Amino acid sequence: MTEPQSRHSGARLTPERLSALRDEFPILGRKTYLNSCSLGPLSRRAETRLGEFLELWHEMGASAWYEHWLQRLDDLRLKVSDFLGADREEIALSPSTSVALSSIAESVDWKARPRVVTTELDFPTLGYQFAVKPGVELVVLPSEDGVTVRPDQFREAVDERTAILATSHVFFTTGARQDLAALAGIARDAGALSLIDGYQGAGQVALDVRASGVDAYTTGPLKWLCGGPGLAYLYVRRERIEELEPRITSWFATRNPFEFDLAGFAFRDDARRFEMGTPALPTVHTALGGQEILDGVGMEVVEARNRTLTQHLTDGLEQAGFGVRMASEPEARTAIVMVRHPGPAMAVASLAQEGIIVDHRPGHVRVSPHFYNTEEELDRFVDALARVPPSD
Ligand SMILES: Cc1ncc(COP(=O)(O)O)c(C=O)c1O
Repeated sequence: MTEPQSRHSGARLTPERLSALRDEFPILGRKTYLNSCSLGPLSRRAETRLGEFLELWHEMGASAWYEHWLQRLDDLRLKVSDFLGADREEIALSPSTSVALSSIAESVDWKARPRVVTTELDFPTLGYQFAVKPGVELVVLPSEDGVTVRPDQFREAVDERTAILATSHVFFTTGARQDLAALAGIARDAGALSLIDGYQGAGQVALDVRASGVDAYTTGPLKWLCGGPGLAYLYVRRERIEELEPRITSWFATRNPFEFDLAGFAFRDDARRFEMGTPALPTVHTALGGQEILDGVGMEVVEARNRTLTQHLTDGLEQAGFGVRMASEPEARTAIVMVRHPGPAMAVASLAQEGIIVDHRPGHVRVSPHFYNTEEELDRFVDALARVPPSD
């Protein structure tokens, strides 16, 4: 299937286009799949890329590295950098978000600045990077409304002793989106580094990392980018790269990895100095497939479509009498929708029996539609949820 490039073609998917896109994802024909913030669906395109990888493995074994696979790593770095609004030199491949975060955490002079400011709404792996470091003072900002954290709270907490302002682009618990430019400015004014966990951001909301001014941004193919588990991406702003020398490293981080020279270690000049060894090649291939689909649709279209779907979903939930935990300002809302529920685990299990895949978090059923979902699927979910007995 060849995907027309629609980055600049207006924020709309025609019914024919939507139907062709849905055909790319077999699970959509089998289930009502509304859990993209946990795991994006596998596409035929990603499966084809994976098949090509497996065939080369059969055919060429290790020689495929030099003739094909090193190039695939470059292809992915380039696609990801274009997608995020970065230069290729600013992107590193990493085994997981946790590893990407830890290579930044291991690049900082903690004696000079021992403080990190994060929030209680961030995915815990972010705070863990600092909580395990002796002598690091972790400031965890509370959420006053249970949905987001005000930029002013960061401004008050980030001071001249702060090394890193570390928080999410979109909170995994509430779907609330933060203002990256504001966060970057707060960190910059204090001489601190801004480190953004963008796992729930890139792929569902349009993004230009360089324009945002953030210093480091992590994301990966697992969720909204429909590329599978086993890989993450780390963006580091060019101006920051050289001052960051991580104390965890690998042969991929050195200028001449194929010289196998212990004494001659020298950090690369680009973001690949943060790479941590051989990336998961099967995921490199599935990630390329997923990325091609997202690039073909274009983030303008994805974001507009997700806004429409989210509005439809929250309207339906409201009519059915369900409460939703979400940001008060519409522009801060995203396609992660938390539905208040007295027995979320049982509700999710009961919906799964009807072929509806969603997730749960304490006190909530979590629903996350993506551009390929339809209004009918959302209605089916709301109807089915309304039929679930209201307790565990
Ligand atoms: C916002 C966020 N950050 C980090 C992670 C975990 O990333 P990893 O397992 O790649 O370290 C998740 C996983 O769901 C997440 O939602």
